[in-house]
Amino acid sequence: MKNISVLGSTGSIGRSSLEVIDKFSHRFKVVGLAAGRNTQLLEEQIEKFRPKIVSLERKEEAEDLRRKFRGKSIKVTFAQEGAEEVASFSENDIVISAITGINGLRPTLAAVQEGKKVALANKESMVVAGPLIQDMISKFGAQLIPVDSEHSGVFQCLAKEEMGNIKKVTLTASGGPFFSKSSSEMNDITLEEALNHPRWKMGKKVTIDSATLMNKGLELIEARWLFGLEPRQLGILIHPQSIVHSLVEMSDGSVLAQLSATDMKLPIQYALTYPERENSLLPSLDLSEIKALEFYEVNVEKFPIIKLARLALEEGDSLPIALNAANEVVVSAFLEQRIKFMDISDVVTEIVENHQKRKAQSLEDIFDVDRETRRVTLDLLKKRS
Ligand SMILES: NC(=O)c1ccc[n+]([C@@H]2O[C@H](COP(=O)([O-])OP(=O)(O)OC[C@H]3O[C@@H](n4cnc5c(N)ncnc54)[C@H](OP(=O)(O)O)[C@@H]3O)[C@@H](O)[C@H]2O)c1
Repeated sequence: MKNISVLGSTGSIGRSSLEVIDKFSHRFKVVGLAAGRNTQLLEEQIEKFRPKIVSLERKEEAEDLRRKFRGKSIKVTFAQEGAEEVASFSENDIVISAITGINGLRPTLAAVQEGKKVALANKESMVVAGPLIQDMISKFGAQLIPVDSEHSGVFQCLAKEEMGNIKKVTLTASGGPFFSKSSSEMNDITLEEALNHPRWKMGKKVTIDSATLMNKGLELIEARWLFGLEPRQLGILIHPQSIVHSLVEMSDGSVLAQLSATDMKLPIQYALTYPERENSLLPSLDLSEIKALEFYEVNVEKFPIIKLARLALEEGDSLPIALNAANEVVVSAFLEQRIKFMDISDVVTEIVENHQKRKAQSLEDIFDVDRETRRVTLDLLKKRS
């Protein structure tokens, strides 16, 4: 029996993870849950899974929860430190890291520092702190298994391969809801349209990132650090069917691909059972029903954010941190309907192009760049309003 803590348990990945754990309850047991503000769902999860430690974002709600579960042998903590406490809980064997944004970084590091197996969905951690995380994994003997479907695909393709034999890794992107819109139509996109992803049901931030293609840009940077690849070895193809998750070209010209149904429960299950496999929760993939698998180049004029992400991938140092911070700020502003869809890439472009790149190797440096970029981005949004 493996003990699991789920960070971000009330989110899309968190809920899917709990479904997988429930299905394999003979193998896995929930010992910790960390959520943000959805207290009602967290309470339901506590009733069902009986964890030993939970955390949420705010103190007052944690105190309410403590009163409700008094005498039930459950520790209730809160804030960033609370999520870190759940992540480093001594009984954990596996930690699923699925808090959104840079808020997931410290809890991810807390799990790595305890030498745990970490199933990583929180791509922003790798984007802002890839080299630091990899150093800590070696130092503390932790293990990182990707949950992002594209990275899980690459990880599966590479299971028995020599890293030195990889020529190129291509991540696929569905293209989001606006793949077939013309550039002029992109100006009038509403929040509702941007949140209506054609293939995946996800949290709001990652859904908007998928609509701008920033999600794929972040995934390129994530892949660089997860697999130790050079920027020139990484590419993207639009694949509207979202069946092929990634392609790995080997030095002899063979191209390995991982295909599966469009459901995050599969990569989550694989990360939890790795290196073993279990029977699927999902129906078999029927390619005769799907018929065509299409692939297209990205239109960078329509999705300029991809150029920026490539720049951050190639330049490294503090640039990916600035890219991520600016994006988190503008996506929040778009979700609050304070800016238009195309403002997202305009503002991120201005911030990244004016960012003074510097080394950012320690956690302190990373958070300095993050804080400073958020401040500059908020100032720019104020000026433009
Ligand atoms: N969804 C997908 O299909 C998918 C696929 C691949 C990778 N990912 C990555 O996985 C991560 C999560 O995505 P998601 O779609 O599951 O997002 P989501 O549905 O928005 O869920 C985010 C989770 O994080 C919690 N949270 C947010 N801020 C927090 C904080 N400050 N402290 C503690 N908990 C906090 C939320 O809590 P409350 O809801 O309680 O506030 C929620 O449980 C992202 O990094 C995303 O890029 C997602």
